[in-house]
Formats: sequence, structure tokens, C-alpha cells
Amino acid sequence: MSDTTALQNAKRAKQDEFYTQYADIQTEMNAYLEYNPDTFRGKTVLLPCDDPEWSNFTRYFAENFAALGLKKLISTSYAPDAKREKYGILFDYAAEMSGEKPKNERGKIFVLDHDVTGDGKVNFEDIEWKYLDGDGDFRSAEVKELRDEADVVVTNPPFSLFREFLAWIMEAGKEFAIIGNRNAITYKEVFPLIKANRIWLDNPFVRGAGYFKSPIEVDKKLSYYNSHDYREGLIRVPGVRWFTNLEHGRRHQPLQLMTMADNIKYSRHKEVKSIGYRKYDNYDAIEVPFTDAIPSDYDGVMGVPISFLDKYCPDQFEIVGVAKAGAGDPAQKTRFYPEQIQVARDGRETTVTKLNDGPVLKVADPPEGEQYYKIGDEIFMQVYARILICRKRGDVK
Ligand SMILES: C[S@@+](CC[C@H](N)C(=O)[O-])C[C@H]1O[C@@H](n2cnc3c(N)ncnc32)[C@H](O)[C@@H]1O
Repeated sequence: MSDTTALQNAKRAKQDEFYTQYADIQTEMNAYLEYNPDTFRGKTVLLPCDDPEWSNFTRYFAENFAALGLKKLISTSYAPDAKREKYGILFDYAAEMSGEKPKNERGKIFVLDHDVTGDGKVNFEDIEWKYLDGDGDFRSAEVKELRDEADVVVTNPPFSLFREFLAWIMEAGKEFAIIGNRNAITYKEVFPLIKANRIWLDNPFVRGAGYFKSPIEVDKKLSYYNSHDYREGLIRVPGVRWFTNLEHGRRHQPLQLMTMADNIKYSRHKEVKSIGYRKYDNYDAIEVPFTDAIPSDYDGVMGVPISFLDKYCPDQFEIVGVAKAGAGDPAQKTRFYPEQIQVARDGRETTVTKLNDGPVLKVADPPEGEQYYKIGDEIFMQVYARILICRKRGDVK
């Protein structure tokens, strides 16, 4: 195995073993509860891909069982032998309670639905557990059955299986709140759900990065290690978001925006101030390079950064597409390009086919110090993936 492959495998395995901090779970659940205090009332909550031996999800829902008005809490864990990255079990309920040898090839199910200890409270102490028949894979028939019984699914699923996990929830039509990477927005399996307002995002993480506990020693060689943001014992994961279909107040707060004329006069962005907005060469839309530079009075389609979704208010804007190969609808393109010459910053030229991957701006002259593309005597610049939006009629200006 090459060094690069070994590092990639290590990254992938570690991506699956990130444990969410209690405060991050609490902050997010509070966002739902502030909007609707009965979000979880009378409901069965399933926490799959969990592990009460390590996880704060079970702790949060068990501690707040009465306050949330839960009917039942179920959490399942993945068998230690099935995990790609092996690590010690903090303590094992099996060994502790029966003296039996732990069955490391099997997952476990933990259930909380009544006061077992008789102390008049339903809490962590009342959790009952047993081994599952299989390894606790969320795709197994027995965990699917638990999913079907549940009303709400909450977890931080293995990042490497995010698409599959989201599809697993959607096929059963459950309410959910799960952690994933923002990049998933442009997956062809995920974007249509966002566009149709069937799922949305929330970003309570400071500067968009989450800090997770890992049972595995933090390897400073991995890209998550960042000297400025290093926090002892935690792994920094940039770009994490909550994906959910539970209502929260933040998505109903419209962005405060200026008109196009005011943006051109007063914008704090040099790319907009005195310049205005350019039209794409291959989409019938204007390029808006910053979310806070969206003109409040433009009636056509606008291409905005994908971070717009952190602030997206469906009462204010409508999502009409995404300008990116894969999830994007080719029918929204107004032009397709033949092979191009890519001119790198150092002037090196290569023949490529990249321009069809996303939005493109046609420019009069080669941009100084930036990569550009040539087809005959036409010159182009490629723009990052953009969400295509338009103003909702009757929105707040
Ligand atoms: C990102 S961790 C999160 C753990 C916990 N939910 C938390 O946030 O504290 C995902 C967990 O899912 C487990 N896992 C990996 N593949 C799985 C699968 N196919 N089915 C169920 N769990 C899986 C991993 O071993 C890991 O413990």
C-alpha cells in the first residue's frame, strides 16, 4: 500500500469514528425546541450508529427524557469487530453485568422507556440493553425494523456512508437530524431533496468547523489537525453541518439585503462595488460571489455560493438548481464547450474539458495572475459551484 493510500484509508476510518460533543447536540436540539417545544413529545427517537459507551447522543436524550416528553429512546451500536478502526471499549455492559465474555462480533441495542430503578425518574440509569442478532449495521433488517418503529432519527452517521444513510432515512419517511459534511449538498442524491425543501441545513458550528472526540489518538499528520485551531484531544472537522427536516427558527429569518444599486454603491466587496454583477456565459443567471451581496430587487436567476444554504430562508428565496456537474441539470445550461486550453498561473498550457463542470464567465482579456481558459480567441474563467436561486414573489425586500 502506498503512503498516500494508507493515509487516505486512515482518514476514512477516522472519519467514521468522530464522537459528537454534548454541547453541540444540545445547541442543535435547542434550535428545534425553541421553534417547537413539542418537537419530540410522545415520539420514539432512534439513535443508530451510536455507542452509549462513548456517545453523548444517548446521554443527551436519556437525561432529557422527561423534559422532551419522549415515549421511547432506542440506540444501537456497531459491533467492535465490524469497525474499520479498532479501539478499546471503555467498559462493556455484557462483561459488567453477566460476567460473560463480550460478544465483539455483535452490535447492541439500548432501550429507555420506563423507570426501571424505581427512583421515580426515567433517566440514563434505566437504560436496558441486549445484544443484537447481527453487527448493528444500519442497513441490516433488524436495525431497519427499529427505524420503521421510530418517529425521529438522530445521529452523527459514519461520514463515509452519508449518502446511503440519508437515503435509508428518506425511504422510510422519518423526521431526522444528522451531522454531515457541507460538500454533500452538491451530491446528486442530496441536492434534489434540498431544492424541493424536503431537507435543509443548520450551521451552529463556529466558523463552520466541528470539534469531535476520537477514541483514536489524533494523528497530527491528518489534514484535520490545524495549528491555529488545535484543541487538545479533539479532531477539527471543517465544513460540518446538521442536515435535518425538523423545523428550526433560523431558516425563517430572511437575510437583510441591499438593492442592486445600493450594492454597487456601497458593497464592502471590491468584486461588486463599482463593478456590479456579471452574467454567466453558460447559464441564464448573474454571478453573486457573496451571500451578503445578493441584490434584494433582482428578478432573474442568481448564482450564489453554496454557503448561502446556511442562511437560506425559503420564504425569501426559491432554489432553482445547482451549477455543478453531477447534481446540476444539464437542461439549465445555455452553452456547452468543446475542449479548452487551460492556462495556469505560471502560463503552462494543458488541454482540458473542465468548463462544462460549472458556471463560466467570459472575459475580454486574460486575467492577471489567475488561471483561465481559451477556446479560439474567446477567454473564460471558471467559477466555483453555485446554487441557482431566484427571489420569491412577495418576499421581504
Ligand atoms: C461518526 S461516528 C459517530 C458516533 C456517535 N453517533 C457520535 O456522534 O458520538 C459513526 C459511528 O458509526 C459506526 N458505523 C460505521 N459503519 C456503520 C454501519 N454500517 N452501521 C452502523 N454503524 C456504523 C462507526 O463505527 C462509528 O462508531
